[in-house]
Amino acid sequence: MGAGSTDQNAGVSVWAVLVAAGSGARFGRPKQYEPLGARRVLDWSLDACRAACDGVVLVVAADRAGDDEKADIIVAGGATRSDSVRAGLAAVPPDADVVVVHDAARPYATPALFEAVIAAVRGGADGAVPGLPPADTIKRVDGHRVVETPDRAMLVAVQTPQAFRADVLRAAHAGGADATDDAALVEAAGGTVVVVPGERDNRKITHPSDLPGER
Ligand code: C5P
Repeated sequence: MGAGSTDQNAGVSVWAVLVAAGSGARFGRPKQYEPLGARRVLDWSLDACRAACDGVVLVVAADRAGDDEKADIIVAGGATRSDSVRAGLAAVPPDADVVVVHDAARPYATPALFEAVIAAVRGGADGAVPGLPPADTIKRVDGHRVVETPDRAMLVAVQTPQAFRADVLRAAHAGGADATDDAALVEAAGGTVVVVPGERDNRKITHPSDLPGER
């Protein structure tokens, strides 16, 4: 049991894979290294992982793999987010029971949110994701043409941290598929993924205007 884990996780080994190997194509530079308050975006995400998990594998771009960061293990990521998760997962100790995948670009996620998704997996789900009802109406499109307007009551906008049974996540990633989140791979493999209430403030830093003081 690591120093960062909570009593709620007693007897269960919970590891985080924190993916921070993106180039920030939409932001214009790697957003995870931007200042946020007195620290960097990455430091906030890393601290939340450390508070809720027994260990953290941090996945960074290859040219940052030698950097000194407050993680137990640091590995180089890959070309896509899913490749980076796989690189991190390969470094998670084999006896981990639960793996929580988190985007470094979400610095506002609280340790309580980690604990909620972990608790749902401990309660029997294969995976658990934070979700919120979308404020906007969502359209399915084909190019510029609207194809369908799904019933908003049936939709949730999904965040990280996402928690999974470690064996289920490893199996879901074994085929090397790509998806925008890990739950999609677990769902495709037939796993049961449940939604817990997300956090309104847990936005993903995507564009410079997502950071205070930036336009
Ligand atoms: O690009 P996007 O905002 O979807 O990235 C989500 C998270 O995945 C970010 O924290 C980013 O650093 C990470 N990522 C990664 N490896 C990639 C692409 C994205 O670790 N090849």
